[in-house]
Amino acid sequence: MAHIQDRSIPRVSPKAREYVGDVLDFGFHNAHSVGMTARLEQRFAERMGAKYGIAHCNGTATLQSALLAAGVGVGDEVIVPAFTVFSTPAAALQCNAVPVVADVDPETWTLDPEDVRRKITPRTKAVIPVSICGLMPDMGPLMELAREHDLIVIEDNAQGYLSEYHGRVAGAIGHFASFSFQASKTVTCGDGGILICRDPDLALKARRAATLGFRDLSVTPGDNVVDEELRCHPDYRRHCSLGWNQRLPEIACAVALAELERVEELVEMRCLCAEAFAEVVDRCDWLTPQRVPEGYRHTYWTYPVKIEREDVDWAEFRRTFTALGGDGFYGAYCPVHLEEVFENLTVAIRARPERYPQWTGNWPDYSPGLCPAWERIQPRIAMFKTNYFDTVEARRQAVVLEQTVRRFS
Ligand SMILES: Cc1ncc(COP(=O)(O)O)c(C=O)c1O
Repeated sequence: MAHIQDRSIPRVSPKAREYVGDVLDFGFHNAHSVGMTARLEQRFAERMGAKYGIAHCNGTATLQSALLAAGVGVGDEVIVPAFTVFSTPAAALQCNAVPVVADVDPETWTLDPEDVRRKITPRTKAVIPVSICGLMPDMGPLMELAREHDLIVIEDNAQGYLSEYHGRVAGAIGHFASFSFQASKTVTCGDGGILICRDPDLALKARRAATLGFRDLSVTPGDNVVDEELRCHPDYRRHCSLGWNQRLPEIACAVALAELERVEELVEMRCLCAEAFAEVVDRCDWLTPQRVPEGYRHTYWTYPVKIEREDVDWAEFRRTFTALGGDGFYGAYCPVHLEEVFENLTVAIRARPERYPQWTGNWPDYSPGLCPAWERIQPRIAMFKTNYFDTVEARRQAVVLEQTVRRFS
């Protein structure tokens, strides 16, 4: 572990104070601002290989706006992976569409294009591949399927800042890409998110979806407030389409912009922390890391491993790690189709079909067995934290992992 360089960076970018100061000095006005939202939207889109950015209050609302902009609604199906945060299927439910859950590849744990192919129906309108833990899915075949079946692809890159797929950065491939600024994420302002895309028509629809469907919005960065002259007039009919109110406060945009400006450093730090764990895992024949195929860049929002030995109890492993001074680690999220919300919705739809006309008749069976690969793997996953801002601390955690492994040998 000695070869991993010593690095330490501040937890919050020093620039954040300056930019927040700029917002506060300018003050809050109804129809104009110091331009922090515009700067964030523009810089973010440019850095992630897109043209338009639309800041949102979180990285779930972004997915919802993308689906609304793509015209996804009642009777439509949206394919999501079994390994993701519930935000991904929730966005489909919020649009009254049906989330169809596809399995993951047994080694990369990202969306399996073959299972997506099997689950496409004439009702499928969109696919949301997720850069889970910081590894992009196999986007080539997924985009091919999308072309064949006329599907909208929304990359969910909440965990995938600067991840790469054959030289293309996360955000540059799908019709849309979504990022989260939630507190655990690589770029954060506490809470927030951004949606990016390259198509001006989709970008405008997404901005309207995020800003009450105001007719006079444009794709111009920061254009999420309608001009005062227009708004004042009694004849003004403001709302041309259905949209929610998902704006990100300018104070938060200021922090997100400052963090975006050092995104390479933030990603490098996560990768160094992951490297410390990887050195230990590479020497252990019963811990398997997420496979990173040739041509991919993993950016380690977290460092996940699979505990291969059936005689090592997950909870006992964690207890040993924390008892030895480890920070703790997370289990992988329950396969989304087995979350209680689907069970409860199924009961509710059966009991009162007239209350749920949008789902009655085309509600899938979200039962065990739907995604066998992920159902088998998920209980055995340990996700180690990589959000240390000091490699000395990350190395200390890796040493504790090594001691933990020895206890089970
Ligand atoms: C994969 C994934 N998708 C979506 C989200 C939702 O982001 P947010 O918490 O900003 O709504 C998250 C973050 O929690 C995530 O990890």
